[in-house]
Amino acid sequence: KRVAILISGGGSNMLALVRDMAGDHPARPVLVASNDPEAAGLARAADLGIETAAVDHRPFGKDRAAFEAALTERLERARPDIICLAGFMRILTPGFISRWEGRMLNIHPSLLPKYRGLHTHARAIEAGDAEHGCSVHEVTAELDGGPVLGQARVRIEAGDTPDDLAARVLVQEHRLYPMVLRRFAVGDRRPVLL
Ligand code: GRF
Repeated sequence: KRVAILISGGGSNMLALVRDMAGDHPARPVLVASNDPEAAGLARAADLGIETAAVDHRPFGKDRAAFEAALTERLERARPDIICLAGFMRILTPGFISRWEGRMLNIHPSLLPKYRGLHTHARAIEAGDAEHGCSVHEVTAELDGGPVLGQARVRIEAGDTPDDLAARVLVQEHRLYPMVLRRFAVGDRRPVLL
């Protein structure tokens, strides 16, 4: 299976996926693309010999559809079977999502359905939750709302700052996402629960 990975920043989740695919694996990375030409993950992917692309969203202003048309054109050239959103920070329109529905995954730093959207770590601490974590889900038109294919849990410790918690969750993201992609790539939708 051909996998395209969309990033916006450092790409640590992308690296975890790429490293896992370097071994015996039903999928391989064919493109790493970013909406930010300065995304550090682009250089990290290129260093590993992976095709990269930057489709800068800024020239398109508020015209999401035009940005997504440019992104789609670039994606189509890579002929991906699966798209993995990994630290991708743009909201995608239902039009784009419907084109890839059933073939697009995302990792979100919360135990969905709790804390959809942003600032999930601060919100979990604020709420006094004992646990937090991350979820991999199929992307549907509902923001952070698709079927959950995997979750990993961490404890929230007394005195945790959002950054402390984010770092603890990120370690689990790097374990969870590759495990989910291995199953998803062979059509196995049994949830991975860590
Ligand atoms: C992290 O906050 C992670 O929780 C979320 O995206 C952000 C950046 O991830 N998935 P990455 O290092 O760019 O993969």
